[in-house]
Amino acid sequence: MIVATGASERVVDELGGSPWDSQHREFDYELRDIEGVIPEELRGTLYRIGPGRLDLDGHPMSHIFDGDGMVSRIRIGPDGLHYRNRYVRTKAFERTNETRRPAKGFSTQRLGGPLANALRFPANLANTSVLLHDDELYALWEGGRPHRLDAETLQTFGPESFGGALKRLGAFSAHPKVDPNTGEVFNFGLDFFPRPVIRCYRLERGGRLHGLATIPIPKLGFVHDFALTERHMVFVLGPLVVRNPVPVALGLRPFDDALSYRPELGTTIVLVPRDGSESTVFEYDALFHFHVTNAHESGDRTVVELVVHDPVDGWEGWNGHLRNYHGDAGPAFGGTLTRLSVDRRTGHITATALDDRGCEFPQLDPRFATTEHRFSYLASASVPGGDPDSITTIDHHTGAASRYTAGANNTVCEPLFAPRGGAEGDGWLLTLEHQPARKSSRLVVLRADRPSDGPVAAVQLRHHVPMTFHGAFRPDGPAGPGYRK
Ligand SMILES: [Fe+2]
Repeated sequence: MIVATGASERVVDELGGSPWDSQHREFDYELRDIEGVIPEELRGTLYRIGPGRLDLDGHPMSHIFDGDGMVSRIRIGPDGLHYRNRYVRTKAFERTNETRRPAKGFSTQRLGGPLANALRFPANLANTSVLLHDDELYALWEGGRPHRLDAETLQTFGPESFGGALKRLGAFSAHPKVDPNTGEVFNFGLDFFPRPVIRCYRLERGGRLHGLATIPIPKLGFVHDFALTERHMVFVLGPLVVRNPVPVALGLRPFDDALSYRPELGTTIVLVPRDGSESTVFEYDALFHFHVTNAHESGDRTVVELVVHDPVDGWEGWNGHLRNYHGDAGPAFGGTLTRLSVDRRTGHITATALDDRGCEFPQLDPRFATTEHRFSYLASASVPGGDPDSITTIDHHTGAASRYTAGANNTVCEPLFAPRGGAEGDGWLLTLEHQPARKSSRLVVLRADRPSDGPVAAVQLRHHVPMTFHGAFRPDGPAGPGYRK
């Protein structure tokens, strides 16, 4: 039902009081309810993706990772703003629509007991991130192939193998890195058969995918993200390892029960040269992390910035927050922004806490990826263990932090940088803010250097958008297609 509410129309929906409520509908409309002013220099297209369908006929999925991927596209053009969302038409999405039975997920089991789950890998839900490359949009899920979409209509074309270059599982992680100087994309995928390896890839302009290196997975560990310097792919492999695969393979336990955090195993750091030469391996203390901001090289040192968590209750405790997402997801956003510095000559490694306010989803001005960056942008929590209600900018030169905190129990998601001038950090941060009281969401535009000023503009949607994980912003104009420096 659509009801008039002054400057815009609002969808009245039972769902939307929680950022983890499903959004079952697909929309296409002009955005006209704007507080403040959209800056004239801010033109481009924002994409956000996350689990849009987190319940099936009212029965919740068992984990925040198990919702079907839904892409939101917000076009910010000279003639106005436009919103569109579409579910990625994965095989699992179509099948679930037909059968009304959930697909096997990271923690969600298929109905039918062990026989229905034995020897079955979680379904590709295409719900984790997006990649813009050439004129293509890809919806990513780390255990399988990316799905190619029309960047404007969001129509799904299907899984992409890049001419057959993605083999076996076809895993293509949800955190590819773009070199802003060359336009090349680097990424990896985990493969477990016939032996556990990390497959490293380089994607050229034009869509040609090259295998760069294949390295053994140390300690059978799990890795979600990596970093790229001008010379290396950098893997920080913490001791989140596969330890209990048999009950999972037999379908007796869900997939996430196979993982275990074993700090006694420490962290392995692997530098994979971009030129295909031999990798270098270093050992360090245990680190529990998922996301990396960036990395760079400075003389003999490789410096990596990432968000480190303190898993006091191990994997089971931390993952428990993601299983109980409606009531308890906050602590999963409580990481510490940390800088690791690796002396490649001596192997000596230091870790420095940069900001101990709880955070996740670190970002930077992507034009400065692979080199030393000055500013980090974070989704953070103003209350320890709380939901992500703030966007924080950290200036590493001055140590200063500037923070926008949403009011009224609103929550935010990953901030994405949109450029204005050529200098690092000259631009805006874009995030989606969930408004539980309105059962709705809005696009918030903040000055990247001073989010504490509050929104430059806030664009009201007619409905809520469930919590998104990641996204991409492509500016119009010369800085657009390649998004280079
Ligand atoms: Fe991620």
